[in-house]
Amino acid sequence: MNVIQNKDQPPIPIVVVGHIDHGKSTLIGRMLNDTKSLQTGKIEELKESCKRRGISFEWSFVLDSLQLERDQAITVDTTQIFFNTKLRKYVFIDSPGHHEFLKNMVTGAAEATSNIIVIDAIQGLTEQTKLHSYLLQIMGIKDTIVVVNKMDLVKFSKQKFQIIKEETESYLKKLGMHTNQTIPVSAINGDNLYNRSSEMNWYTGNTVTQALDILSPNKEVSGKPFRLPVQDVYRLEKKRIIVGKVESGSLEIGSKITVWPSTRSAKVLTFDHWPKKNKTSNITRGQSVGITLEKELFIERGNILSSYNSKPLSSNLLEIKLFWLYEKPLTQGMHLKLKLSTSEHNVVVDRINYVLDIDSLSKIQNDQVNKNEVAEITIRSRSLINYELFSNIPSLGRGVILNENKIIAGCIITGGKALEIASKNLTEVPQSVSNKEREDFNGYAGNVLWMTGLSGAGKSTLAMLLQRELFNRGIHVYTLDGDNIRTGLNKDLGFSEKEREENIRRIAEVAKLFCESGSIVITAFIAPTKATRSNAREIIGDKFHEVFINADLSICESRDVKGLYTKARMGEIKDFTAISSPWEPPTEPDLEINTGELSPNESLKKLVNYIDNLILNKTSNSSTQIKKI
Ligand code: ADX
Repeated sequence: MNVIQNKDQPPIPIVVVGHIDHGKSTLIGRMLNDTKSLQTGKIEELKESCKRRGISFEWSFVLDSLQLERDQAITVDTTQIFFNTKLRKYVFIDSPGHHEFLKNMVTGAAEATSNIIVIDAIQGLTEQTKLHSYLLQIMGIKDTIVVVNKMDLVKFSKQKFQIIKEETESYLKKLGMHTNQTIPVSAINGDNLYNRSSEMNWYTGNTVTQALDILSPNKEVSGKPFRLPVQDVYRLEKKRIIVGKVESGSLEIGSKITVWPSTRSAKVLTFDHWPKKNKTSNITRGQSVGITLEKELFIERGNILSSYNSKPLSSNLLEIKLFWLYEKPLTQGMHLKLKLSTSEHNVVVDRINYVLDIDSLSKIQNDQVNKNEVAEITIRSRSLINYELFSNIPSLGRGVILNENKIIAGCIITGGKALEIASKNLTEVPQSVSNKEREDFNGYAGNVLWMTGLSGAGKSTLAMLLQRELFNRGIHVYTLDGDNIRTGLNKDLGFSEKEREENIRRIAEVAKLFCESGSIVITAFIAPTKATRSNAREIIGDKFHEVFINADLSICESRDVKGLYTKARMGEIKDFTAISSPWEPPTEPDLEINTGELSPNESLKKLVNYIDNLILNKTSNSSTQIKKI
């Protein structure tokens, strides 16, 4: 069934690939001519110029001349050639090589979901075409039209065609691609491109234009969650505009979004569209928009916006399939930069799972991946990466690997591991007393005040003052403090990044349990990185309150209550926060207490106010006793 395209719709992108000399350019040139997509007089002009230069005309010159016109304007890696059938507009994307192709697919210049593979009827499916097909599959192109070209050179042999058709279709099938049609053509003569061939009456399938016109590109499976990777945040007068392209799902004004990895939420106030700038109440996949929110949140490039609480996957251990383009082989332990839509992550090769034999598609064990090889590897990153599986949301599950801003590999995410539950034989036992019952009984819900700050900022002092104050009011309260927990539960952990991550993970799990049991939990840990704190927030959920106990390093150092800064400066303690180990202060805490400016009592008052308002639902001047037990 033909689908007539609305004139205003953008052209449908079709990637054209083929081994050099298999006739890709001839096919495109002849298609442009036969579908009358060229300027009138263009062919005559080219023929005339060939005559003057004493060379015979070839259809590929059409492409060369278009490329020339383009080169004078801008330099692009991929040639985009526009053409129309009677039904709709198309743009052929002709990539000179793997590298350019990857770059264009990943930067989103080409949102193609369909392609044409050109194969020479004499040479058949070559290694290069197999590699290119693999790349197409990696980039999410599933619908393929196979064109067996130069049929005139094999005397229009049906048998020859059948052999190539079977070989190619079965190879593509093994790759997971779908062949819509395999068409015997003679591009040079225009046979079976736009006009049906009179030389191959044995072929009754579609011509190339017919096959294109029945493609249904860019279909999105419905029910995908809203995802928008943030490209940038602009400030316009008082407004903050979050800019990006919707990669899946849709969103309406007034609905709530969540920002990842910060897990902050806010309602959408407006949408602005570029370049038209018209206002709409709804945005859907493929649209580039500017979003303003009801509440100012700290958002930066690389964050992902989702519909409320519909969490993207997150892991620091990803399995990826990659196509390696770099001279230097990939090896275990290599440091790489992974770019996924708008975010970049420093990762290390954890394992090479296998290298793929591109001919047989069998998996080979090897300790390196060479240039132009395909492999599955596991990568590890310091912090959690928000992602989607390629099989679920392709544009969020594919990326590139960079070396000094140059693409050295293309990849798709095929799996990710959260910290695995070691045992498989577990059945969760529901609690016989619900959180709500505990809340009703106590008169308040359990909550976690997560104090973060430098050593010496005053976390423990304030935690203990606050604990006493709440206890005196009859509130169930318990403090988890770094130095204490590290002598018990976490006595096996030191201060490497990995150990701090595990330290905070365990504390967050413990805090969550106390919280569920109905207590107000106060934690006093440095929790030095954004990633560790957002992991804690993820574990605890909406009962998590980030409290930044802020004092400059110079103040903490001058206090040096435990004498640790002196030791750290002398090199006696290694990995000391803010001296020899990273410290990332919170950018958007729920509450900030500056202990460099406030006295302990003033700080305590601020904390009590916060708890009264937000947790106990009391106004600050009616700090009534909750319940004496
Ligand atoms: S965290 O970074 O993993 O969150 P945590 O809060 O548990 O640290 O422990 C910090 C406390 O351990 C500090 O208050 C300090 O007393 C002590 N400590 C010992 N060595 C270090 C170190 N290398 N860096 C920071 N704190 C240290």
